[in-house]
Amino acid sequence: MKDILSADQFTKDDVTQVIAVTKSMREIVKKKGATDILKGKIMTALFYEPSSRTFGSFVAAMQRLGGGFIPLQGVVYSSVAKGESLPDTVRTFASFSDCIVLRHPQVGAAHIAADATDKPVINAGDGPGEHPTQALLDFFTIMDRFGSVEGLTVTLVGDLLNGRTVHSLVTLLSLYSPKAIRLVSPGVLKIPAKLLGKPKQTGIAVTEHEVLDDVLAETDVLYTTRVQKERFTDLDVYEKVKYAYIITPDVMKKAKKTAILMHPFPRVGEISVEVDNDPRALYLRAQIPNGMYVRMALLSLLLNQ
Ligand code: NCD
Repeated sequence: MKDILSADQFTKDDVTQVIAVTKSMREIVKKKGATDILKGKIMTALFYEPSSRTFGSFVAAMQRLGGGFIPLQGVVYSSVAKGESLPDTVRTFASFSDCIVLRHPQVGAAHIAADATDKPVINAGDGPGEHPTQALLDFFTIMDRFGSVEGLTVTLVGDLLNGRTVHSLVTLLSLYSPKAIRLVSPGVLKIPAKLLGKPKQTGIAVTEHEVLDDVLAETDVLYTTRVQKERFTDLDVYEKVKYAYIITPDVMKKAKKTAILMHPFPRVGEISVEVDNDPRALYLRAQIPNGMYVRMALLSLLLNQ
């Protein structure tokens, strides 16, 4: 595998391998903090859209593996601001470094970048398209808690139209046999229909809802998302739906004791801070640290061949 562009490219064996390597990376960090298996390798982090966790965890992952990095965050300071094309920028940094981690507002940008270079390209989010490394860290978090996704009801809530993390996670889950995927969103933010083919084909019960209470009591994994303001052309529509679902302690009272609450972050009001101390809330205590371990695993698998 040269690139990581879409959740669609993974087989179950690939995911099993990523999970195993992620666990060993977690051990390395806990025991020694770092290793030098990528000594001498350099990663370019080429980010055309805002990012905190994805950017920071890729940089930290590369450094904990002994590698270096070129940070290009806020490309307004680079030649992109002079009108340089994506392939030209990618070819330039591919000659300085061993892989390109790309975040870009355009769906399909990572594929364009991958075609421009023989070096590995990792899609760190392409507009409202995909975010495969986030899906892997989300999946790792679910597996780490439950041991398997078999029999689980996974409920995805919020902006399912534009939320790229959801798009990649649904695709990844379709490799397995969760009992059900419940999709909860306002009517204007429903998941693109083309993403439902795979899970339905696999025989997973997939249903769409507007009211969270319809599915909350049966849910094992409650995955909430931010309404993606930057994707709206009409901000009046955004204002109407931005707080469609807010997870509060009262909502959590209606959820299973064994359920987990996830969010890719940043949150901008979808989960009240009073929920953070609930042991079921895994965004801060598991998803964010797992993001670094998963990215260490992916970088080592791509670059240490
Ligand atoms: C997400 C993203 O960028 O798609 N953030 C992240 O990478 N953890 C989710 C979001 O921005 O809402």
